[in-house]
Amino acid sequence: MGKGYYISKHLATAAMILAAIALVTIIALSVVYNREKSKNTAKLTNATTSAVPPTPKPSNEPWDKYRLPDTLSPQYYNITLWPRLVMDANGMYIFTGISDVMFTCVKKTDLILIHSNKLNLTLFNGRHAKLTGMSGVTAPAIKSTWLQTQTQYLVIQLKGKLNPGKSYWLHTEFTGELADDLEGFYRSEYMEDGEKKIIAITQMQATYARKAFPCFDEPAMKAVFNIILIHDRGMTALSNSQEIRTEDVIIDEMPVTRTTFEPTARMSTYLVAFVVSDFSYINNEDKAGVLVRIWARKKAIDDGQGDYALSITQPILEFFESYYNTSYPLSKSDQVALPDFNSGAMENWGLVTYRETALLYDPQTSANGNKQRIATVVSHELAHMWFGNLVTLKWWNDLWLNEGFASYVEYLGADHAEPTWNIKDQIILYDMQRAFAVDSLTSSHPLSRKEEEVNTPAEISEMFSTISYSKGAAVLKMLSEFLTEPVFAKGLSNYLKQFAFGSSVHSDLWDHLQKSLDQAPGMKLPRSVHEIMSRWILQMGFPVITIDTRTGNVSQKHFLVEKDAVVERNSEFNYEWFVPIKWMKKGQVQDQMWLLQKSAIHKPMKVSKGEWVLANHNVSGYFRVNYDHGNWERLLSQLETNHQTIPVVNRAQILDDAFNLARASIINITLALRTTKYLVREREYIPWEAALRSLNYFFQLFDRNEVYGALQAYLKKQVKPLFEHFGTISSNWTKVPNGHTDQFTQIIALSLACGTGVEGCREITKSWFKKWMQNPRVNPIHPNLRSTVYCNAIAAGGADEWNFGWQMFQKATVAAEAVKLRAALACTKVPWLLNRYLEYSINPEKIRKQDATSTIGYIASNVIGQPLAWNFVRANWDYFFKVYGTGSFTFSRLISDITSKFCTPFELSQLKRFQKDNAETGFGSGTQALQQAIERTTAKIKWLAENKEPVLQWFISESA
Ligand code: BES
Ligand code: ZN
Repeated sequence: MGKGYYISKHLATAAMILAAIALVTIIALSVVYNREKSKNTAKLTNATTSAVPPTPKPSNEPWDKYRLPDTLSPQYYNITLWPRLVMDANGMYIFTGISDVMFTCVKKTDLILIHSNKLNLTLFNGRHAKLTGMSGVTAPAIKSTWLQTQTQYLVIQLKGKLNPGKSYWLHTEFTGELADDLEGFYRSEYMEDGEKKIIAITQMQATYARKAFPCFDEPAMKAVFNIILIHDRGMTALSNSQEIRTEDVIIDEMPVTRTTFEPTARMSTYLVAFVVSDFSYINNEDKAGVLVRIWARKKAIDDGQGDYALSITQPILEFFESYYNTSYPLSKSDQVALPDFNSGAMENWGLVTYRETALLYDPQTSANGNKQRIATVVSHELAHMWFGNLVTLKWWNDLWLNEGFASYVEYLGADHAEPTWNIKDQIILYDMQRAFAVDSLTSSHPLSRKEEEVNTPAEISEMFSTISYSKGAAVLKMLSEFLTEPVFAKGLSNYLKQFAFGSSVHSDLWDHLQKSLDQAPGMKLPRSVHEIMSRWILQMGFPVITIDTRTGNVSQKHFLVEKDAVVERNSEFNYEWFVPIKWMKKGQVQDQMWLLQKSAIHKPMKVSKGEWVLANHNVSGYFRVNYDHGNWERLLSQLETNHQTIPVVNRAQILDDAFNLARASIINITLALRTTKYLVREREYIPWEAALRSLNYFFQLFDRNEVYGALQAYLKKQVKPLFEHFGTISSNWTKVPNGHTDQFTQIIALSLACGTGVEGCREITKSWFKKWMQNPRVNPIHPNLRSTVYCNAIAAGGADEWNFGWQMFQKATVAAEAVKLRAALACTKVPWLLNRYLEYSINPEKIRKQDATSTIGYIASNVIGQPLAWNFVRANWDYFFKVYGTGSFTFSRLISDITSKFCTPFELSQLKRFQKDNAETGFGSGTQALQQAIERTTAKIKWLAENKEPVLQWFISESA
């Protein structure tokens, strides 16, 4: 490892430059700070104060465009930052910084545009920056500078031109706020041993690096970063590359430590990271000498909470080295668990940051689900170290390839670390089916957008969608399977080699895969990789394949969940796809067929009596399947007689397809409901989870009307055998089942049994919780079952149970335990407790900001909490927008969570009203989610009108 790539010449030059400027920098830094201090009225967030006020200009100026011009190309940054972890005289936390960026001129220009957001830049003779030429070149003088707030630029107009081929240094000094806003360079706080600790950390993706230092903040603008961090003694500073020096120095009469880092590899700004903390770490070193460290709060490390992550990091890195056929590109790999973190994890190159629940595992209190989450998140982020970091997509319009890819291969890496889990199968639950759900709406969008369509930070943020992640993962899995894994991996490795340390577009990957295919003996596709994939990525949605086994006719149609939905978006491919269909006939796997037209006769699919056809074998394709009535009947009877003949993931897919075909009124709802009858004999996790989700949709539709009772009765009957099975194999709930996914199924059994009132269930959970309340120091509930038990006990209890849960939440030292309690507190049925909890959710003293939106989401999933949450969000929309900004990832989740139960015309009108009332404030990254909510609600209203009665009748007859 580590010997794959290096750029020694550049690094050496950079290191020298670095050393030379270090001293100057330190002095200047303290000057910046003092200047700021003496200003006394530091308006850090109002960076619009400019030396030369911009005269009103027509809006077509380069600084009004969100994309940088192609005139300059950055090479090196020398950055020194000094976060102050104590409040200053103005009651603020700040950082000061100095940056020198060396760029080469590519096209003659008299304008420098560089991103800078919310930074207070020091003026030099009235200018926001200083410019010098390199190697004897004289730089033109600066004519004027100002900050263009809207597009987040520092604009520098020059009196003369910069010349192509020549390089220049741009110097800036600045102050920024070290806010608790989870964006850019920010601060996080936590309690340890009764003491409040403050640390400084970063989150740059997608457009926040410009909030930490002025930079050419676009992914293709790669450069080498030379970083120095100044910090309190006793703290440790981390960044992307290995620390090479730490020196105790005195600056401005303050004893501090200066940590200098190796020049980084050539990389994008969004991957830059800093951490200044007093965290501890554990480490090991792999065969090639790559240092692997896991960092977290001292107590967490002392308790061994980092051990699991450390134990899987090596195997996962080794897996990816061999999968990509490329060494790990850096000399170290740090992974840090942070108390305040907006997303789940971030793939900063060499310094991956995580939410605590995504990295820390405590065998005493964490569930096996928590463990699985850690394995998949670590695998996902480490996959990015090559795909995304070493080779970066040129622009955010192709984000789907970066995130979709990592979301696909995370299963491969996790499977290597935990081979007994069968985790690869779970992609159908956590990606395929999730993607199907949003991609069957007319408000969906193609995976790949045109470059010109994605410009503003909010538009960029909106790219981080379920479509990018999950549909991306699903179509890449399909591609890998029809190419075969060796062909896919070979093409991938060549792609990485060609574009290492550079950037690419999605078709570059297609080209390499095609080459790899052409070289594979005996392999052929009916169309090129490019032609096949264009249909999956340039048009939204996916097909439903209909197989008529009486004739062998196979046809495709764009699947939309709303029966008469009108698709406004045009597709150059007319919503037709090239579909690889793997299939089985009566338990035997057949040759794959390709459907290349709207419909075709495929003789082998015409079957004789008693035979059945099952298409999308192992769910390798991103499409749904429908059959003629006779074949459905034969599949149902196969499920009834011997379900094991059908692969486990296909059993799950039959359920999911049937329910969704019924929602789209393509098949009868009673046919879909009949797919759940065999569940009395099902013991596998994936089909049960799929069933639960389909039925959950029913819960959402019916938990406030008369169907509910009959639905409950039916489910109770279906889950009873599963509950008894687990009671037996776990010696009456005292032992843990052996299999990894059996432990998940056990949770389903318990939660569904208690939820539907299976005799004996609630008594068990109640008694466990009571025992815990009596002796809070000893929690008798197995970690796997805690979420369910807590939720049931708090739902059945009153203020005492709630307050006990709240106390335990506040005391929790393991993040995974805190989440279980936080979710369970939303289960109470007491309105005033729910309302108070909503208030708590936006009070950062009570609930961390990172957890606000998910807490509201938990409350909204409770039938009593839903209207309360909806009113609360409507009333506070402005506040949310201000606190979370326009770029935040969580808006879309918030909107879809609070509206997921909507299914009446009244609710639809409220939704539309909400959209209208807040048109001015806007919905930021939640814009699409709102559109989806409206569409989903519309579809549900129509569906309910036609299906409520037959559903009620079916449940009544089946639960008798
Ligand atoms: N690059 C993302 C993190 C991210 C998400 C940054 C949104 C900015 C906006 C990271 O690789 C990621 O995908 N994280 C996931 C977890 C992952 C296991 C799916 C996340 O944060 O949810
Ligand atoms: Zn990712």
